[in-house]
Amino acid sequence: MIQTIRGFRDILPADTFLWQAIEKTASELFENFGFQEIRIPIMEKTELFARSIGETTDIVEKEMYTFADRKGDKLTLRPEATASVVRSYIQHNMGSSDPVQKLYTIGPMFRRERPQKGRYRQFYQINAEVFGIASPYIDAQLILILNELFKRLGLSELKAHINSLGCKECRPTFQKELLSVLNDKKEHLCENCIRRMEKNPLRTLDCKVPTCREALKDAPSTLGHLCNGCRDHFETVKSVLKDQNVDFTVDKTLVRGLDYYSKTTFEILTTALGAQSAVAGGGRYDALIKELDGPDTYGIGFAIGLDRLAEIVAQMVNEKLTQTQDSSPKDDLQSDFMKLLSARFPDLFIIPIGEKAFRLAYLWSSALNIAGIRTETDYSGRSLKSLMKRADKLNCAYVLIAGDQEIEDNALVLRDMKTKEQYFITTDNPVEQIQTLLSRV
Ligand code: HAM
Repeated sequence: MIQTIRGFRDILPADTFLWQAIEKTASELFENFGFQEIRIPIMEKTELFARSIGETTDIVEKEMYTFADRKGDKLTLRPEATASVVRSYIQHNMGSSDPVQKLYTIGPMFRRERPQKGRYRQFYQINAEVFGIASPYIDAQLILILNELFKRLGLSELKAHINSLGCKECRPTFQKELLSVLNDKKEHLCENCIRRMEKNPLRTLDCKVPTCREALKDAPSTLGHLCNGCRDHFETVKSVLKDQNVDFTVDKTLVRGLDYYSKTTFEILTTALGAQSAVAGGGRYDALIKELDGPDTYGIGFAIGLDRLAEIVAQMVNEKLTQTQDSSPKDDLQSDFMKLLSARFPDLFIIPIGEKAFRLAYLWSSALNIAGIRTETDYSGRSLKSLMKRADKLNCAYVLIAGDQEIEDNALVLRDMKTKEQYFITTDNPVEQIQTLLSRV
């Protein structure tokens, strides 16, 4: 049997309803904040990612799916979306009509990492990018949006970690100081760090090797070397977040795995998937657009790891559902997001018993489907008892018992599965009667 490639997986219907509910909640929220959707290709020229993400990052050095196509062009399956959105902004000259553009995109990314829980080789991101705004208010607003999204999804324990990486004015002095510390500690550093020291010393602060972590625990931080502009910018971000009651921690070790960042960077971390991992990450990339031959304008954005988010939300939903089985329903089950989740259950199950009933059940259920009422029926001729069981299993809110006898008596029985209340429906216009009844109760 042919199976999926390692690190690649199917998202099955049992999960897609949750993914769709998350995507809908996110896109509605983004649209309230003025974002518009953009769809970008899954493949780009390799050069785009190499130049933007950085030649010495893990992503570009060892994780990209790169190949030559039949004509020999070097192509890469996108490992992230920011580079492509920036390319699109430049290519379509979006800034000429209005330099301020707020764009979001949802889709798969590809990185050849070691697969584990919450880490896949094809994974999905919800990305948001803002162009043309220099103000620190927008940095705070993006973190606020993430915070609000997680709140709407019922996740309260997530916390933003924020840092500032400085800009081209202040980073060189910091790098010089870091380099001298790295030289002093050279014998404790891994090969990777030694290799990266010259080209990109900041990356060494991101190294996960325990000996490097220990050797660099007192290494200088960008925060201690910010120029006045970057310091003011960061102070404003923090104070606005406080004003908006967004919980955050300043984390001087947060350097991110991509090279294009300057000033504010942030991640939302969780331990819900075992070891600590990020559900979202982002930051400012004010130099990137110009570096990719575009206009000299500002950029900032974030990406949420949808696979990780869906896993955390699924855990939370399951916990809530088990809680409600042994106590009264919790208020937060009434949230818009939870309502989106329950919308997947059928409203009605029509139980036909007898030859004549089959045809009518089919006609009525199709008419109800068209009218927007989720209706299921059955064509197998099974007994009332077994079909009641099936309606229960499907979590249908109502059943309509439509046996030949009920049809003859002109009295179909509509039963509310929760309250067990019964209503009688006549056979002349059952679709309209059911529509009226269901909209009333
Ligand atoms: P990133 O931190 O590389 O940033 O990825 C963002 C999120 O994608 C991570 O926090 C994580 O949740 C998820 N993610 C990354 N790799 C994997 C994987 N192998 N399996 C599952 N989930 C994963 C970026 O990609 C930047 N483009 C974010 C950004 C947008 N910065 C500015 N604008």
